[in-house]
This record gives sequence, C-alpha cells and structure tokens, in this order.
Amino acid sequence: MSRRDEVLDALLQSAPECVSGEALAGRLGVSRVAVAKHVAALRKAGYEIEASPGAGYRLVGTADLPMPDQVRPLVESDFWTRYVGVEETGSTNDDARILARAGAVEGTVVLAARQKAGRGRLGRTWSSPEGGIYLSCILRPKVPLPDVPSMGHAIAVGIAEAMHGFGVEVGLKWPNDVLIDGRKLAGILLETSAETDCVNWVVAGVGTNVHRSSHPPETAAFLSDSRPDLERAPVAAALLDGIAGAYERWCKGGFAAIREEYLSRFTLMGQEVAVSDASGRLLAAGVVVDVDDAGRLCVDTGSDVVGLYAGEVTLRRS
Ligand code: BTN
Repeated sequence: MSRRDEVLDALLQSAPECVSGEALAGRLGVSRVAVAKHVAALRKAGYEIEASPGAGYRLVGTADLPMPDQVRPLVESDFWTRYVGVEETGSTNDDARILARAGAVEGTVVLAARQKAGRGRLGRTWSSPEGGIYLSCILRPKVPLPDVPSMGHAIAVGIAEAMHGFGVEVGLKWPNDVLIDGRKLAGILLETSAETDCVNWVVAGVGTNVHRSSHPPETAAFLSDSRPDLERAPVAAALLDGIAGAYERWCKGGFAAIREEYLSRFTLMGQEVAVSDASGRLLAAGVVVDVDDAGRLCVDTGSDVVGLYAGEVTLRRS
C-alpha cells in the first residue's frame, strides 16, 4: 500500500469522525507536511476531505468512481497486485491485452468508469456509459486451451457471490451472462493468447450495470434498482474479491470445483433452447439437461445428448 493509500485507509476507518494530522503522521511515520500533501493528492483524485484547525481531517465524500484510488483500499483479496485505472478508455480489454503482451503479471486489473468502444461476446458492442463498472483482469492459468471457456463460468460465479454479499440474487445463463429477473446485469468477455500446449494469458473483461444510463436497453438490469445506496467503488471491490476467490478455486479443481455453485444459479435447466455459433449457424436444438464437469452445456436433441463448449443460447418457447 502506498503512503497515500494508507492516509486514505486511515480516513476511511475514522469517518465520519476527524483524525488529526498529528495522529496520521505518527501512524504513518511521516511529517505533518507529508500528510497534508497526501490529503491534497486525495482531494485531486475526487475525495472530499474537510480540514478543521485543531480537529484534523474528515472524509466527507468519495467521488463515485471505480478507480484504483477508491477501489484498492476496499479489496480484501491479495490476489490483485497491480491496479491500472483510466476514467475513460476505448476498451479495458484492449488496454489489458497490451499489458498482458508486455508481460504484466497475473493479478493485474484495468478499471474504467466508461468506455468508448466496449466490446461484447460474438463481436457485439458493449454499451459502456458512465454509471457502469468496466474491468479487465489479466490471468495466467496453467491449463490447456480447451479448459479456458469454463473459466468464464468461474468469473460468473465470483460475480454472483459479490452480488449475494449485497443481498442481490442473480441467475446465470450459460455460458456466463449474469441476470436479474431475466435481464442482463453483467457480461463477461474472455480473450486468450495460447500456444499449442499452454495458455499464455487470458484477459477476462467484465461489464456491470450499476447506475441507470439515459437510454438503457430493455434487456439490461441495473444494480441500483435493487440497491440505490451503493457506490461503484465498493461494488468493484466486491467483484474483484468474488472473481479472485472463484478463479482460485477453479485453478485448483477446474469447473468441477465451482459446478455446484454455478448450477444453483443456472437458469436454463429443462429449457427448450437453440444454440448457435458466432455466425448464427445452428449447433444444437433441444432441452438443456446439464452443465458437465468440463463446463459444457448438455442439450438433449431427442436423438442424442450433445455437449457444447461455446455458443449463443436462444430460448425456444413453445
Ligand atoms: C458480453 O457480451 O456479455 C460480454 C460483455 C463484456 C464487456 C466488458 S466491459 C469491460 C471489458 N472491456 C470490453 O471492451 N469488454 C469487456
């Protein structure tokens, strides 16, 4: 933790009470002038900090930004070791891919408050206005390439756990859409670099709708509809804690290690579906009967049960 983060941590812990410059200086082992400089830097980053002569500093407001300054002090997991933040970017996945190619360590995360060119699965656009959380995680799992798709399920489980912590129960639609009442709260985009026998890196991009935007799509759900009191930084921190925990379980035991949790939230069991590939070609149609230990969607077509690693699921209502 940097000195500035330590000052922030102390202010967060004592809020809404004041903490004196002298106490902060003593706690951090720095001068009061240095404390004042860190407070000035925090104000610049969007924190509202009151200073009263004699009483000290009091944190009265945080900028509702999912940026490293706000998020890092709230993350409990020590999995995340490097935070990169850009209030506005094209796509955090693009930024993370550049970092991954340059050798960024596993546990690096790129955060943004809005994206100009957010990307979704199957070449779609991911609308990314102010109000959401856009984050991309650099992961380096030691698994063969065919195991990677089920990692997306682990990320989804991690998101579900984070939401559960806020009292919000979500459903999971295979492969890894996170839903509230059938509407999409969060989506996951995995992008991978691999050799024939090993994975170099995976960038796991997660877009989460928190506050409503001006013209939201009909199909979108927003966390603030259930929890209007939540700011984005604690939500982003909970997402990172949830993702780290589920990813670590998946690394140890594969999809089997998180399968039960995934299935407990799975929305497609027993549903009539059609599954197509990115170009719209039908891969299978029938009734969903399972998600197996490899994370494949198992569809009973009437003549056979087929296991699918990837695809787009459309519900077929009779
Ligand atoms: C989906 O289609 O459901 C996946 C959406 C993934 C969107 C996230 S937002 C953060 C990261 N950056 C991107 O450009 N896409 C992912």
